[in-house]
Amino acid sequence: MCGIIGIVGKSAVQGRLIESLKRLEYRGYDSAGIAGHMDGRIERRRAAGKLRNLEEVIAAEPLAAEVGIGHTRWATHGAPTEGNAHPHAAGRVTLVHNGIIENFAELKAELTAKGRTFASETDTEVVAHLLDEHLETLPPIEAMKATLGRLTGAYAIVALIEGEHGLMLGARHGPPLVVGYGKGEMYLGSDALAVGPFTNRVAYLEDGDFVALTHDGAQIFDAAGAPVSRQVQTVAASVALMEKGNYRHFMEKEIHDQPEACQHTLSAYVDPVTDHTHTPGGVDFAKVDRLQIVACGTAGYAGQIGRYLFERLAKLPTDVEAASEFRYREPAVTPGTLGVAISQSGETADTLAALRWCKAQGLKTAAVVNVHESTMAREADVLWPTHAGPEIGVASTKAFTSQVSALTALAISAAVARGCIDAAEERRLTKILMEAPRLIADSIQVEEAVRALAPELAAARDVLYFGRGAMFPLALEAALKLKEISYIHAEGYAAGELKHGPIALIDQGTPVIVIAPTDHLFEKTISNMSEVAARGGKIILITDEAGARNAPKGARTIVAPTADPLIAPLVFAAPIQLLAYHVAVQKGADVDQPRNLAKSVTVE
Ligand code: F6R
Repeated sequence: MCGIIGIVGKSAVQGRLIESLKRLEYRGYDSAGIAGHMDGRIERRRAAGKLRNLEEVIAAEPLAAEVGIGHTRWATHGAPTEGNAHPHAAGRVTLVHNGIIENFAELKAELTAKGRTFASETDTEVVAHLLDEHLETLPPIEAMKATLGRLTGAYAIVALIEGEHGLMLGARHGPPLVVGYGKGEMYLGSDALAVGPFTNRVAYLEDGDFVALTHDGAQIFDAAGAPVSRQVQTVAASVALMEKGNYRHFMEKEIHDQPEACQHTLSAYVDPVTDHTHTPGGVDFAKVDRLQIVACGTAGYAGQIGRYLFERLAKLPTDVEAASEFRYREPAVTPGTLGVAISQSGETADTLAALRWCKAQGLKTAAVVNVHESTMAREADVLWPTHAGPEIGVASTKAFTSQVSALTALAISAAVARGCIDAAEERRLTKILMEAPRLIADSIQVEEAVRALAPELAAARDVLYFGRGAMFPLALEAALKLKEISYIHAEGYAAGELKHGPIALIDQGTPVIVIAPTDHLFEKTISNMSEVAARGGKIILITDEAGARNAPKGARTIVAPTADPLIAPLVFAAPIQLLAYHVAVQKGADVDQPRNLAKSVTVE
């Protein structure tokens, strides 16, 4: 979604706003803008398109301000034009917004009837008008409170008011907003990364909070308007983790970060000395009757892989559902169910709503989350952390394998708690799991082989992926990766489903990518491949050494390391990610910021 930054500074903020927006660009990138107090007025600079367009605008017309706000947009209401770019202004007010104001049409009609005119098609502009109207009769904090009382929907808002030079107002209802504490300076940002270049001391606003920032500090109020304090924390997200290093794209770097991300994540679940697993948050799996996993996109596919493991190892019935469906389906959950949300950001609107729904039913909840200060991490009864570090590339890679790592460890832990395996078997499985980081590093070595295939795949119109068992959700993830960054139509299928329909798609030259390590299902997958080959499909088999020896004639192979089925989804993830990456690079696509996508989807 959109990214927000605000600086109540002691020196020029233009360069710093841009620096921060660069860190936020992964959230949205179809237009950007900044505004600040200048000579008693508030001035704006805005541009459609990427941030570099805004940089050109301010190079020609600098914004000499010490107090300013900035925004990078992912359009919801109104096309991505300069006119719809934030900040939006009305009277004395200039503000930026992330989220959706659901009752904006009604508010706009009301404000229009009062003679107010609108310059954009956005929902945001009504907030600027409402605040400006309330400022006619109320002081700033009261005016903000009155304005928020009129809004329904989701928002993080940061506002400047003409004539109130040292004051910045902020509010949070849904999308996150953090307060950064500097030395004689204060900041507001969409996340800790936004304020990371200036401070690592932050407080997370709670839902319904609003805040008044001056050079000296922050006055925070809860939804009822009562002053509250929110804990100031020192965050670890180091600025260095935000750099691409020698890599061309964040996605490439993050694929290569995976051995480390997996290792860090596993260290939260496995004792390296005893090889015992443990369950953070003290969930007793023996008392859990069912797992209900809710997630979106890639996180959902991690959940589907988790289901294979929880059911096979721990005999724990597990349902996995897209959070956007689950939240409105009125599912019949039973009291012993543990609700598990999986999310990199911890802010995805549908997943958060599904988590809250589970809580409202009286279920205990856990969240597998990478951003540990996020809303889901704070609202779930139990945090099951992943330690992937900041993920900037819009296409999720290391967050996915970290989620699968955590779920694998948890499934072993559940198997022990439920008496399905003894301590010796636990140690055996854990030892296998702890090999995953090394084997992921080995699997990244397929990069050259994958790169060689990229030109051919880049020319394809459709690509099909097949897998069986836990390789089926990996096939779904592989197809998602390819379509989101290369814009090639791709579908993932359970290999056994081939002849029930998808085989009709195969004609001369259709690339068919089969993910099949040597396991008890390999032979069956080989038969499916023969059916594809007979119809002219071009098979690319991602397998291990033994699988490559048994590959059907004509199939080209990508040989990943040999891995126990327990960790095969982790080891086979890098080849499918690298394939999508190199095809996108080959096509000249914008890998880190694919069209129409946003990193953190805080609206439904
Ligand atoms: C795809 C991707 C998305 C996210 C989804 C959920 O590469 O990144 O499908 O997985 O939007 O996001 P989180 O995990 O932040 O809840």
